[in-house]
This record gives sequence, structure tokens and C-alpha cells, in this order.
Amino acid sequence: MNPPKITAETIRAMKASGEKIAALTAYDFPMTRLLDQAGIPFILVGDSLGMVVLGYTDTTSVTMSEMEHHVRAAARAQPRALLVADMPYHSYDTVEHAVENAKRLARAGAEAVKAEGGRAISEQVRAIVAAGIPFCGHLGMLPQSVREEGGYHVKGKNEPEHQALLADADALVEAGAFAIVLELVTAAVAKELTQRVSVPTIGIGSGKDCDGQVLVTPDLLGMLPWYNLKHVKPRLNAAEQMRTVVAEWKEGISKRG
Ligand code: KIV
Repeated sequence: MNPPKITAETIRAMKASGEKIAALTAYDFPMTRLLDQAGIPFILVGDSLGMVVLGYTDTTSVTMSEMEHHVRAAARAQPRALLVADMPYHSYDTVEHAVENAKRLARAGAEAVKAEGGRAISEQVRAIVAAGIPFCGHLGMLPQSVREEGGYHVKGKNEPEHQALLADADALVEAGAFAIVLELVTAAVAKELTQRVSVPTIGIGSGKDCDGQVLVTPDLLGMLPWYNLKHVKPRLNAAEQMRTVVAEWKEGISKRG
């Protein structure tokens, strides 16, 4: 018998059972299938798509149509994992817009959506959840705010940031989020948030005490050597291996020719 489909409720329940949540990004059919076969329960079609696949300098240029295109490709893998899609920049500025765009992503195959922010988007979150679409929060360093913030900065280092994170996390839980990604939050504040909220926290560069961890898969696999990230140690040097194999193949066909 096939193991049951993983839902947002399954992910939420993993906090209580103490099973760590392993989450990774995928942007297409083969990667979704491979991650699913490896037993990853939470697969995110992240808007990191913009940087790691589409060649934009940050995530703010990613459009709804681009997200839909990649969500459709990932969904064709029909993963057992929960398939979560990021809502792109400016796609959830108003409640109406947020619900309409969350529905578009759901029609493309997303089983849950994620968006950045806390108290500022709590009405949007409430409306998305009321429309029947599970919602995952994202707090800490918010990549869609990189231009306003002038870079990617660790959050929670001072008291105002610490208090803002607590209030934002409470607001997301109250609005119905089933999980919260914590990106570049100090390890101490991430631990406090994890103990405080009833839903799982999934950390990226936020220490070891979150209920789960998420990574951008090409970073884990060493596919993008031009990014030098402190929070991830690649487990494979895929870029170097690909260059070597391709050069060897080229050498081989030149000899035969
Ligand atoms: O877009 C993305 O891949 C993300 C992860 C970094 C959590 O939001």
C-alpha cells in the first residue's frame, strides 16, 4: 500500500511528534520527482526560482506567470510531498489580489502557498486560509524586501527586531498559518519562536533548534558556485562534476571524429 499523501496538516502535526521537517526547493518535474523519491515531505517551488533558474539578480522580478509555469511542471511529478508555491513580489498587496493569486497557484497545482511578512499581511493570510488554501508564513530576512533593505541582513539582533518577530509570528498563527519559515533569524530568537508558536518553524540560516530546515536545492548540491553562502555547505560539487563530465564527453567525441 502506498504511504498516504502529505498535507499541510501532516506537516503541522510533525511539530507535536518531534519529527524534524526536511524541506527543499524544486522548480521542475525531474527535481520534484527526485526529492519526492528521496522522501522529502515539503517541496517548495520558491521564488528563488528568479535567481537560481531564471538569472535575475533577486526575487523581485519573478512574475505570477513564471511561478504558474514552474508550479505546473513540479505538480506533474504528482509528489507524495506537500507542494508549496511562493507568492511572488506584489502578488499579495491587497486581500483581493492575494486570494485571486493564491487560487491561480492552486489551480496550477500548488497545495499550499507561502508569502513574506507577518502583521502586515495577516488579513491576506486569513482570507487565503478562508478560501481553503493552506498558508505557510515567512519571517526574518525577507528576500522580496532586499531593495528596500539594501541587502540580506540577519534579523533578531536587537530588541525591536526581536519583539517584531514575536508579534509577527503570533499574528501568522492567529491568522491560520500551518507553518512558518524563519530565514536568517538569530539562533536564539529562532529557538524562542519555535518554543513559543504552536505551528512548526522551518529554518534557513536560523540555527539548529527550528522544527525543520529548508534549503534551496541547487545550493545543497553545489550547482551555483558563483553564490558564496554562509548558511549552507554544499554536499556535492555538482557544478565541477558537470563541467568535468561535459569536457570529457567533448574530448571523447573529438577523438572519435
Ligand atoms: O524562495 C525560496 O526558495 C525560499 C526559501 C529560501 C525558503 O523562500
